[in-house]
Amino acid sequence: MQRFAQTFGVLCAVMMLGATAQAKDSFDFKSESFDLPTGERMFTGPGADPVNNNCLTCHSAGMVTVQPRLSKATWEGIVKKMINVYKAPVPDADVAPIVDYLSNHSSAGK
Ligand code: HEC
Repeated sequence: MQRFAQTFGVLCAVMMLGATAQAKDSFDFKSESFDLPTGERMFTGPGADPVNNNCLTCHSAGMVTVQPRLSKATWEGIVKKMINVYKAPVPDADVAPIVDYLSNHSSAGK
Protein backbone atom coordinates (compact mmCIF):
# COMPACT_ATOMS: atom_id res chain seq x y z
CA MET A 1 0.00 0.00 0.00
CA GLN A 2 2.82 2.32 0.90
CA ARG A 3 4.37 1.48 -2.41
CA PHE A 4 1.17 2.40 -4.14
CA ALA A 5 1.07 5.74 -2.34
CA GLN A 6 4.64 6.45 -3.34
CA THR A 7 4.00 5.58 -6.94
CA PHE A 8 0.85 7.65 -6.89
CA GLY A 9 2.73 10.61 -5.43
CA VAL A 10 5.41 10.40 -8.08
CA LEU A 11 2.78 10.10 -10.76
CA CYS A 12 0.99 13.20 -9.50
CA ALA A 13 4.22 15.14 -9.39
CA VAL A 14 5.03 14.14 -12.93
CA MET A 15 1.56 15.06 -14.07
CA MET A 16 1.74 18.42 -12.40
CA LEU A 17 5.12 19.10 -13.93
CA GLY A 18 3.70 18.08 -17.26
CA ALA A 19 0.76 20.40 -16.82
CA THR A 20 3.01 23.33 -15.95
CA ALA A 21 5.25 22.68 -18.90
CA GLN A 22 2.25 22.41 -21.14
CA ALA A 23 0.73 25.61 -19.87
CA LYS A 24 3.95 27.45 -20.59
CA ASP A 25 4.24 26.57 -24.23
CA SER A 26 0.83 25.26 -25.08
CA PHE A 27 -0.08 25.38 -28.73
CA ASP A 28 3.44 26.32 -29.63
CA PHE A 29 3.56 23.99 -32.58
CA LYS A 30 6.79 23.69 -34.44
CA SER A 31 6.90 22.52 -37.98
CA GLU A 32 9.49 19.94 -38.77
CA SER A 33 10.63 19.21 -42.27
CA PHE A 34 12.24 16.03 -43.37
CA ASP A 35 12.95 14.25 -46.61
CA LEU A 36 11.41 10.90 -47.30
CA PRO A 37 13.70 8.42 -48.95
CA THR A 38 11.72 8.43 -52.16
CA GLY A 39 14.09 6.00 -53.87
CA GLU A 40 12.69 3.04 -52.01
CA ARG A 41 9.15 4.19 -51.88
CA MET A 42 8.46 5.36 -55.39
CA PHE A 43 9.25 4.09 -58.84
CA THR A 44 11.47 6.36 -60.86
CA GLY A 45 12.51 6.82 -64.46
CA PRO A 46 10.59 6.81 -67.72
CA GLY A 47 7.25 5.01 -67.59
CA ALA A 48 7.12 5.04 -63.80
CA ASP A 49 3.86 7.00 -63.56
CA PRO A 50 1.35 4.18 -64.06
CA VAL A 51 3.30 2.04 -61.63
CA ASN A 52 3.37 4.78 -59.00
CA ASN A 53 -0.33 5.42 -59.55
CA ASN A 54 -1.40 1.80 -59.23
CA CYS A 55 1.06 -0.09 -57.16
CA LEU A 56 1.81 2.03 -54.10
CA THR A 57 -1.62 1.87 -52.49
CA CYS A 58 -0.87 -1.31 -50.61
CA HIS A 59 2.89 -1.61 -50.41
CA SER A 60 6.02 0.38 -51.06
CA ALA A 61 8.05 0.15 -54.23
CA GLY A 62 10.59 -1.91 -52.31
CA MET A 63 8.20 -4.86 -52.36
CA VAL A 64 8.44 -4.78 -56.14
CA THR A 65 12.02 -3.70 -56.80
CA VAL A 66 13.39 -6.37 -54.46
CA GLN A 67 12.16 -9.02 -56.89
CA PRO A 68 14.79 -10.66 -59.08
CA ARG A 69 14.80 -10.02 -62.77
CA LEU A 70 11.64 -11.68 -64.01
CA SER A 71 10.31 -12.31 -67.46
CA LYS A 72 7.59 -10.18 -68.94
CA ALA A 73 5.15 -13.09 -68.65
CA THR A 74 5.94 -13.49 -64.97
CA TRP A 75 5.43 -9.79 -64.32
CA GLU A 76 2.17 -9.93 -66.19
CA GLY A 77 1.14 -12.79 -63.90
CA ILE A 78 2.08 -10.78 -60.81
CA VAL A 79 0.17 -7.72 -62.00
CA LYS A 80 -2.87 -9.90 -62.79
CA LYS A 81 -2.56 -11.49 -59.35
CA MET A 82 -2.56 -8.03 -57.74
CA ILE A 83 -5.71 -7.23 -59.69
CA ASN A 84 -7.57 -10.54 -59.32
CA VAL A 85 -6.47 -11.76 -55.92
CA TYR A 86 -5.74 -8.58 -54.02
CA LYS A 87 -8.30 -6.46 -55.92
CA ALA A 88 -5.83 -3.80 -57.01
CA PRO A 89 -7.90 -1.27 -58.98
CA VAL A 90 -5.66 -1.07 -62.05
CA PRO A 91 -7.24 0.27 -65.25
CA ASP A 92 -6.87 -2.14 -68.20
CA ALA A 93 -4.99 0.47 -70.18
CA ASP A 94 -2.29 0.66 -67.51
CA VAL A 95 -1.51 -3.05 -67.36
CA ALA A 96 0.76 -3.21 -70.43
CA PRO A 97 2.81 -0.11 -69.53
CA ILE A 98 3.21 -1.42 -65.98
CA VAL A 99 4.38 -4.83 -67.18
CA ASP A 100 6.82 -3.15 -69.59
CA TYR A 101 8.20 -0.95 -66.88
CA LEU A 102 8.62 -3.80 -64.43
CA SER A 103 10.31 -6.15 -66.83
CA ASN A 104 12.84 -3.42 -67.56
CA HIS A 105 13.36 -2.18 -64.03
CA SER A 106 13.36 -4.97 -61.49
CA SER A 107 16.39 -4.85 -59.23
CA ALA A 108 18.62 -7.34 -60.98
CA GLY A 109 17.70 -5.76 -64.28
CA LYS A 110 20.22 -3.03 -63.63
C1 HEC B 1 -4.96 -3.84 -53.37
C2 HEC B 1 -3.63 -3.89 -52.80
C3 HEC B 1 -2.47 -4.08 -53.73
C4 HEC B 1 -2.14 -3.33 -54.81
C5 HEC B 1 -2.84 -2.10 -55.37
C6 HEC B 1 -0.93 -3.91 -55.37
N1 HEC B 1 -0.53 -4.95 -54.59
FE1 HEC B 1 1.19 -6.05 -54.82
N2 HEC B 1 0.76 -7.09 -53.16
C7 HEC B 1 -0.40 -6.96 -52.40
C8 HEC B 1 -0.38 -7.95 -51.34
C9 HEC B 1 -1.46 -8.11 -50.27
C10 HEC B 1 0.81 -8.68 -51.50
C11 HEC B 1 1.30 -9.85 -50.67
C12 HEC B 1 2.01 -9.30 -49.47
C13 HEC B 1 2.67 -10.38 -48.71
O1 HEC B 1 2.77 -11.49 -49.19
O2 HEC B 1 3.12 -10.05 -47.59
C14 HEC B 1 1.51 -8.11 -52.64
C15 HEC B 1 2.74 -8.55 -53.08
C16 HEC B 1 3.38 -8.08 -54.22
C17 HEC B 1 4.64 -8.59 -54.71
C18 HEC B 1 5.49 -9.66 -54.06
C19 HEC B 1 5.43 -10.95 -54.80
C20 HEC B 1 4.12 -11.66 -54.73
O3 HEC B 1 3.72 -12.19 -55.79
O4 HEC B 1 3.48 -11.71 -53.66
C21 HEC B 1 4.90 -7.91 -55.86
C22 HEC B 1 6.10 -8.08 -56.78
C23 HEC B 1 3.81 -6.96 -56.06
N3 HEC B 1 2.91 -7.09 -55.04
C24 HEC B 1 3.71 -6.11 -57.12
C25 HEC B 1 2.66 -5.21 -57.32
C26 HEC B 1 2.54 -4.37 -58.50
C27 HEC B 1 3.51 -4.34 -59.65
C28 HEC B 1 1.42 -3.64 -58.33
C29 HEC B 1 0.80 -2.63 -59.31
C30 HEC B 1 0.28 -3.22 -60.53
C31 HEC B 1 0.82 -4.01 -57.05
N4 HEC B 1 1.61 -4.97 -56.48
C32 HEC B 1 -0.32 -3.46 -56.52
C33 HEC B 1 -1.39 -6.03 -52.58
C34 HEC B 1 -1.44 -5.10 -53.58
